[in-house]
Amino acid sequence: MARIIAGISSSHVPAIGAAIDNKQTEEPYWKRVFSGFEKSKRWMAETKPDVVIAIYNDHASAFSVELIPTFALGCAAEFPPADEGWGPRPVPVVKGHPALASHIATSAILDGFDLTIVNKMEVDHGLTVPLNLMFGSPKEWPCPVIPLAVNVVQYPPPTGQRCFDLGKAIRRAVDSFPEDLKVVIFGTGGMSHQISGPRAGLINSKFDKAFLDGMTKNPKALARMPHIEYMREAGAEGIELVMWLVMRGALDDKVKELYRFYTVPASNTAVGHIILQNGVKSAPRKPAGKSVVKKSAAKKKARKAA
Ligand code: DHB
Ligand code: FE
Repeated sequence: MARIIAGISSSHVPAIGAAIDNKQTEEPYWKRVFSGFEKSKRWMAETKPDVVIAIYNDHASAFSVELIPTFALGCAAEFPPADEGWGPRPVPVVKGHPALASHIATSAILDGFDLTIVNKMEVDHGLTVPLNLMFGSPKEWPCPVIPLAVNVVQYPPPTGQRCFDLGKAIRRAVDSFPEDLKVVIFGTGGMSHQISGPRAGLINSKFDKAFLDGMTKNPKALARMPHIEYMREAGAEGIELVMWLVMRGALDDKVKELYRFYTVPASNTAVGHIILQNGVKSAPRKPAGKSVVKKSAAKKKARKAA
């Protein structure tokens, strides 16, 4: 049976990709950002997932503004890097996992999530930058990746609750896939940032840190947060954070936070990153009532005997 072993969230700032492609990762500004992912890359290399499901958003690269699916699942065998204005990034072609992707499509659609099935698609920085941050810059990506694009570029994006519930549908789909696969799910984008308008450059570290806490401890409350609060607190592009909730919905209620990193800024954006281990058994509950009764009964007995 396939199982989701961990969820990872990470920002996807395009300038991070440019820093890699232009060999600027050792410059102090960028070293600060990349050093926060060293542990994560080691964890990934040790964990060796069989498949990654990457929740990301397309920035008018694959879909243009003429066609904007709310949830689009990549079912193709491969996804080439998109040309975002400077030619396609020099990164490997992303290899998909058509069998698991079609299974997720079937399971989720029959479950009430009308995903758009995408059989041909290029992928932009929204996907390739998180892959670099977690895998470095290998000749080939080490495992297949199933892209799931979420609309966060044109109003109205899906609600946080809908994203969270989609995560649950993905979880059910993965759990019912018969092949033994270790799956890691990525939620990408965020954290607070606003690219244009009077509030361009907005960053809200207090909000971001509370969001990171909520991801670990109280995701159900995060899922109820309305769009207006993302806009007000995290800026117009902060809405990308709803994609983290798809990832979180696919995990157990209780998870173990393995790692967290936060730095400000990279380009215009607050960079946040978290690794949540799934499948953590909660400690068995002590049958408190029973033991109290037993103890007092034992005490009574002892008193009688005395
Ligand atoms: C920036 C961040 C993004 O998430 C994005 O899609 C484009 C630009 C930025 O910080 O510049
Ligand atoms: Fe973005």
